[in-house]
Amino acid sequence: MTIKDILCVVGTRPEAIKVAPVIAALRAEADTFRVRVLATAQHRDMLDQILEVFSIVPDVDLDLMRPGQSLNTLAGRVLIGVNEYLTDNPVDIVLAQGDTTTVMAVSIACFHNQVSFGHIEAGLRTGDLSAPFPEEFNRKIAGLAAEYNFAPTKSAAENLLREGVSRGAVFITGNTVIDSLFDILNRTDPPPVPVPADQPYVLMTCHRREIFGRPIREVFETVRDYLSLHREIYLWYPVHPNPEVSQPAHEILAGKPNIVLSGPLDYIAFSHAMKGAKLLLSDSGGVQEEGPALGKPVLVLRDLTERPEGVEAGTCLLVGPHRGRIEAGLDKLLYDAEEYDRMARAQNPYGDGKAASRIVAALKGESFEPWGGGRGGREVISA
Ligand code: UD1
Ligand code: UDP
Repeated sequence: MTIKDILCVVGTRPEAIKVAPVIAALRAEADTFRVRVLATAQHRDMLDQILEVFSIVPDVDLDLMRPGQSLNTLAGRVLIGVNEYLTDNPVDIVLAQGDTTTVMAVSIACFHNQVSFGHIEAGLRTGDLSAPFPEEFNRKIAGLAAEYNFAPTKSAAENLLREGVSRGAVFITGNTVIDSLFDILNRTDPPPVPVPADQPYVLMTCHRREIFGRPIREVFETVRDYLSLHREIYLWYPVHPNPEVSQPAHEILAGKPNIVLSGPLDYIAFSHAMKGAKLLLSDSGGVQEEGPALGKPVLVLRDLTERPEGVEAGTCLLVGPHRGRIEAGLDKLLYDAEEYDRMARAQNPYGDGKAASRIVAALKGESFEPWGGGRGGREVISA
């Protein structure tokens, strides 16, 4: 049998977390696939933290992160770098995950070179190009180029079918983040945490571009004021290094007795930090998927989400970057035990930890039971 050459591309922290299990699953099929990894390094330190946890050494590293570079500069540099790589190193299939500038530019490079592109975490949509910005645009572009659409859920698959993607190109696999989460929690021990033992803590992340400026300051001022009134609660916030985030975060939140600011955590530390938290306060995509799997309520600092399943399951609640709604959400989860228990039920809308093996089966042309039921990878789609 001819071996297929697969190029897996990673640019940012979440891409590395979500592509890692696919790389491992492809490497386990060495008779069928030869795998190479290209890092655009749109993120540098945050990407390296994750690559180390999963023992991934990129075959090529474009080292593209520059502080403060514009979206267009980054997109152009990814497009040129990946194009040059594909020209010199032909491959059969390129895989990339999600909705970052890296993924958008990689999908264009594949389209221009007529190289087969597989999109991991395909079909997520809010229906609003401004939220999240620029990710909604990025994932639609990636979808246009994709020959394989690995939709994490049935509703993501239905979004694609509504846009006219052919049924045979859509595979419902579950989200690979659940593979990574289960893997890490199974094989590692919790590292020490920087909050006093037995004190309840809220774990926060915040980095979306569309809330930079006034809205992100409102989020930080709200949690500062709330925590100053509720000294028995701790906030642990691993701050994203983007100066648009870290500057106001340190200005508004540093030096408070029950607020712990740290740098970004590696995935071992962050997975265990989520598991130990009372609740999660986040605008992250990945955290909205991990919270339900862990039975941790997530107050989502966004008005719209492309991940409705966690909200429908009752574990995620949209509060936006708005003072009143954040305070009400915190009150409900911290001081109303019944409400807390209602939200804190472990659910698995996003997968069972076997998404990577379904992706590999699809790439091999094998039939598999899709995430959520059915046969052949596709039958549960009704749209
Ligand atoms: C990017 C993605 C976003 C994803 C997020 C995951 C785009 C447009 N945005 O947002 O979809 O949710 O990653 O975290 O693709 N920086 C560092 N070190 C790092 C990483 C970033 O210092 O390891 C700083 C740099 O100043 C950099 C800035 O953060 O310029 C912004 O990074 P960038 O990748 O452009 O955007 P993110 O906000 O991280
Ligand atoms: N994460 C991490 N360390 C941190 C914060 C988050 O490893 O300090 C993980 C988190 O568990 C999730 C992923 O990073 O799997 C989410 O990344 P991010 O929020 O940066 O991007 P998004 O998911 O919003 O694209």
